[in-house]
Order: sequence, then C-alpha cells, then structure tokens
Amino acid sequence: MLGRHVQADVRRALAGFPVVALLGPRQVGKTTLARALQRGLGAARTRYFDLESPADLAKLSDAEAYLDAQRGAAGRRRARGP
Ligand SMILES: Nc1ncnc2c1ncn2[C@@H]1O[C@H](COP(=O)(O)OP(=O)(O)OP(=O)(O)O)[C@@H](O)[C@H]1O
Ligand SMILES: [Mg+2]
Repeated sequence: MLGRHVQADVRRALAGFPVVALLGPRQVGKTTLARALQRGLGAARTRYFDLESPADLAKLSDAEAYLDAQRGAAGRRRARGP
C-alpha cells in the first residue's frame, strides 16, 4: 500500500511538472492517492485521468486540444469571479 511519503513525492513532482503519472502494481492505492491529492489541491486547479477509462483515454487522444479547451474554461471562470 502506498505510504504518505509517496503523497509528498507526488506533490513535489506536481510543483515542478504540469503532468505526473502514477504507474504501479494493481491495487496499491494509486487511484485513492490521486483522488486525495485532487481534493487537497482543489478540483478547479487539477485534472485527473484514469488511463484505464475509455472516456478519459478519448479526452487524451488529442491532449493538446483538450487541455487548451480546459485552460480556456478556467480563464473564463477566473474572469467571471467566484
Ligand atoms: N493508504 C491506504 N491504506 C489502506 N487502504 C488503502 C489505501 N489506499 C487505498 N486503499 C484501498 O486499497 C484498495 C485499492 O485502492 P485503489 O483502487 O486506489 O488502488 P489502485 O492502485 O488504483 O488499483 P488498480 O490498479 O486496480 O486501479 C481500495 O480498497 C482502497 O480503499
Ligand atoms: Mg486505480
């Protein structure tokens, strides 16, 4: 099972890189860790993709277009205010 030090490692990685992948054996807690990090960082600032989900994979088939659209939506949210 992934320990708390892994959560700190992923946070550090996210501070330096726009995308971080969690790869590892089955059932070690990858999804649980990603979801917990997303809750901590705020869903508005983060995107989570499960590469075993056909729907998520489809979003990433043209990742540049998808992420550009997400960035545009975030910018519009900021402009509108809370
Ligand atoms: N830190 C933890 N301590 C104890 N149990 C945990 C912890 N993290 C996850 N679990 C439990 O372990 C199981 C597997 O967790 P999870 O689905 O996050 O793993 P996964 O690596 O994403 O699995 P998969 O490879 O099947 O996608 C779940 O029942 C979850 O509740
Ligand atoms: Mg998983």
